[in-house]
Amino acid sequence: MPRFYLTTAIDYVNSPPHLGTAYEKITADVIARFKRGAGYETRFLMGNDEHSLNVRRQAERQELDPLDYCAKMEDVFRGVWAKLDVSFDDFIRTTEERHRLGVQKLLEAIRARGGIYEGTYEGWYCVSCEAFKQEKDLEDDLCPLHKARPDWISEKNYFFRLSDYRDRLLELYREQPSFIEPETRRNELTNVLEAGLLDLSVSRPGSGWGIPVPFDEESVVYVWFDALMNYLSATGYGTDEEGWNERWPADLHIVGKDITRFHAVIWPAMLMAAGVAIPRQVFGHGFVNFQGEKMSKSLGTAVDPLEAADHFGADPLRLFLVREIQYGQDGDFSWDRFEARYDSDLANALGNLVSRITSMAGRYREGRLAASARSSLPEISTQAVTDYRTAMEELRLHDGAAAAFRIVGAVNEFLTERAPWKLAKDPDAGGALDEALYEAAEATRIATVLLHPVMPQSTLRILERLGGTNGDPIRLDDDAVFQGGRTLSTRTGEPLWPRLSGGRSGGRS
Ligand code: MSP
Repeated sequence: MPRFYLTTAIDYVNSPPHLGTAYEKITADVIARFKRGAGYETRFLMGNDEHSLNVRRQAERQELDPLDYCAKMEDVFRGVWAKLDVSFDDFIRTTEERHRLGVQKLLEAIRARGGIYEGTYEGWYCVSCEAFKQEKDLEDDLCPLHKARPDWISEKNYFFRLSDYRDRLLELYREQPSFIEPETRRNELTNVLEAGLLDLSVSRPGSGWGIPVPFDEESVVYVWFDALMNYLSATGYGTDEEGWNERWPADLHIVGKDITRFHAVIWPAMLMAAGVAIPRQVFGHGFVNFQGEKMSKSLGTAVDPLEAADHFGADPLRLFLVREIQYGQDGDFSWDRFEARYDSDLANALGNLVSRITSMAGRYREGRLAASARSSLPEISTQAVTDYRTAMEELRLHDGAAAAFRIVGAVNEFLTERAPWKLAKDPDAGGALDEALYEAAEATRIATVLLHPVMPQSTLRILERLGGTNGDPIRLDDDAVFQGGRTLSTRTGEPLWPRLSGGRSGGRS
């Protein structure tokens, strides 16, 4: 079975997840679930980034030991991910022993190959970015992302010879353009590389919060160098030779556009310097804004993903994020758009379709639909499955969801055209009625199978009503095939997504 190892960014735990950070995990989960359905032995890693100064400061504010604070936040993060049905296989924290050993081993490996030297760093440092800043990176002396004045620091550090990798990285982007997607990010970073790279400080003085530099106990590893390593240490690098040989390199790193540079410049250079294989692809997704504003706690524009999921359930939220935002570009969340999408896609289209089919099947055929002649639906469905698979492989998640909804739209039209409720009144139209109901049910079943990665819970409920799948778990090769010559046993049930009585007041309490 082919393997697929994918990861998301690991989150700073100084505040709980918001809808923007959740967006990343949900979309990565959709990819992981798609890959499982497509027959890959999938390993999906997430985790928490704990060694940041802001995390330590937040712990101090709460008068907690940083480790206790991080343990408490792990529960908060895991709780949110469970509620949103994010199905990671492994969850790593950077304070874990397996991670420390991996980081130290990599640092030693780079040093042994001449990639590390001692020097003095003098310059700006933005604690919120946890990044060294050059004068040219600032706007009006402020960090453009955090609108805060960075600290001026002057300290003895160990440096990584990042500047040596400029040409190799440019060559990598040229020869293997899919290494960094989408293209806009590749172009941005090509410009960064062409402007030249400076060596990178990979340690900070101090011994309290962070992973000790193995050859200098007075220093800790720079938090980004530490964090990036999670992808490798989670495979067993430094603790389980066999495990990491089997699992590494990663197939896909899903990260936000603000940190793509760390993943597509610094990370591959670190690995090259240690003689370790580089990941196959870095995908830099866009940002989710709230009603046109950047999501920010301090501005009161951070949407709580739990509130959004409580609104209608996790599935409609997941569908909204996948369908509404072109993957790779920025998008916007608003309660009005969310409710409009819910009504059009779920209440009116898919939900209504499932109840119409199952209730007609119950009324006219006692819930047993037998196959007979064929309409255009098999062809439409087969084409949609092909389009869906290509779109999902190319990480056009929005196009994948749209392909599934093309089937839903076609079945709705088909039912209007065939009007089974009229056929049911005509004693000579028994065969035509069988055909119409069976084909509508079978095509809807296929659309549901395609939507399973996006809406893992409600699709299972629909499949139960439409005669189930060929087996558990769902596999595209078996389950997304339009079948004839069998009987589907359907069942009616409560409306899946009751229509909103109108506007936001009708939905959100
Ligand atoms: N800890 C670092 C990542 C280290 S990875 C080796 C970090 N953490 S973060 O908590 O600030 O962000 C986690 C992820 O959420 C990042 O990929 C970031 O781009 C993403 N997002 C943060 N805000 C977002 C939106 N508003 N919209 C979409 N993604 C967002 O950076």
